[in-house]
Amino acid sequence: MKDKIIIEGGHKLFGEVRISGSKNATVALIPAVCLAGAPVTIYDAPNISDVDALMKLLEELNIQVKRSNEHIIIDPSTIKNVDLSSETVTKLRASYYFMGSLLGRFKYVKIKMPGGCYLGPRPIDLHLKGFEALGAKVEYHDGFYEISAKELVGDEIYLDVPSVGATINIMMAAVFAKGRTKIENVAKEPEIIDVATMLNKMGANIRGAGTDEITIDGVEKLGGCYHEIIPDRIEASTYIIMGAACAKRMKITNIIPQHLEALISKLEEAGVPIEVDGDSVTVEASDDIKPIEIKTLPYPGFATDMQSMLGALLTKAKGMSQIKETIYPERFKYCQELNKMGANIMVNSPSCLIMGPTKLQGVEVQATDLRCGAALVIAALMAEGTTTITDAYHIYRGYENLFEKLHGLNAVIGEC
Ligand code: EPU
Repeated sequence: MKDKIIIEGGHKLFGEVRISGSKNATVALIPAVCLAGAPVTIYDAPNISDVDALMKLLEELNIQVKRSNEHIIIDPSTIKNVDLSSETVTKLRASYYFMGSLLGRFKYVKIKMPGGCYLGPRPIDLHLKGFEALGAKVEYHDGFYEISAKELVGDEIYLDVPSVGATINIMMAAVFAKGRTKIENVAKEPEIIDVATMLNKMGANIRGAGTDEITIDGVEKLGGCYHEIIPDRIEASTYIIMGAACAKRMKITNIIPQHLEALISKLEEAGVPIEVDGDSVTVEASDDIKPIEIKTLPYPGFATDMQSMLGALLTKAKGMSQIKETIYPERFKYCQELNKMGANIMVNSPSCLIMGPTKLQGVEVQATDLRCGAALVIAALMAEGTTTITDAYHIYRGYENLFEKLHGLNAVIGEC
């Protein structure tokens, strides 16, 4: 993959696009397979660089992986619990899910500090407190976490904030713990339900995923299973917002509308013509976008991962919009890039004010993280002239077949 994306703006998009399997579910499901005692087949895993990185980590653990267009078959029966010390660990945040899964299976894990998009400080203290509550000892030295336990025993754990990562990680570590683990104030994101569903198919005993409290009764061992990943609600929101920004008419298929309620109601409030029909949504651009106010919140609130894309659309709104970020207060680097294109956005973290409407112009901009990159793709499609997006590798981490999907929608896009 080349590292610059070039987009010629101003073309009306039309047609249909199918949403891929969820990135944030897949990156947890793959490490979760380390807990299985037999092969697991995962259907619809997206072909993105974060998944490639996790496949490499599975190979380092001596796990057999077969990948076709639609399926990944992972056989963990030959697993060796080696230290995860390669650079691959630092390429993505989700490598931290090997903490929970390897601790759960072997009661020992040694892993480098995980990486991922820089969105301001991204602590993992709640993951570690959860492991400690189950009886593990956590040490950090020379850039490595070493987490070990003589035995893991169920406990009651309260999360100070509903963290997606901590919820999934503690849930995985507790699958084989003795007795009952109760995690309170957990995150309720659909990806958590997907991971719990797959673990239960493998034989785990997890209840309450999707509510405030998850209960795990420890089991002795897990088998294999077949699991179909939920559609990616963030990829879906990217294409929906893209349609609202510049489509004659765009149909987005393979979605779960319930996962997108916060976004759809905000788009309706902004006056975007949008129709939900079963597992698809049809959207059109409007020249009369109204300014709106958004506050990001844990699910089912408005997702932090969608705010940058909506920010790009709101440069078209007639008046002043406001976005308040409550999850990652520093997640506004995209605003500076949009301003280079002619937007008028004032950032006063944790909020930004978007003064519209402004005409965007194609220039060179930088994808500073994955969702900033997605916002810039939308802005580039709206802009007059040609936009060059640098550091495009961030975008390939989360968007499957971006070029094919955009060409299919009449976009003029290339790379260099
Ligand atoms: N937090 C703590 N301590 C912790 C963990 C989290 O204080 O131990 C705080 C964070 O600083 C943040 C809040 O809790 O303020 C929520 O963070 P969370 O743990 O839920 O985030 P995450 O699990 O690291 C996942 C997604 C992110 C998404 C967030 C919020 C994955 C791999 N990543 O991150 O996705 O923004 O949840 O929904 O699932 C993306 O897809 O672009 C992305 C960054």
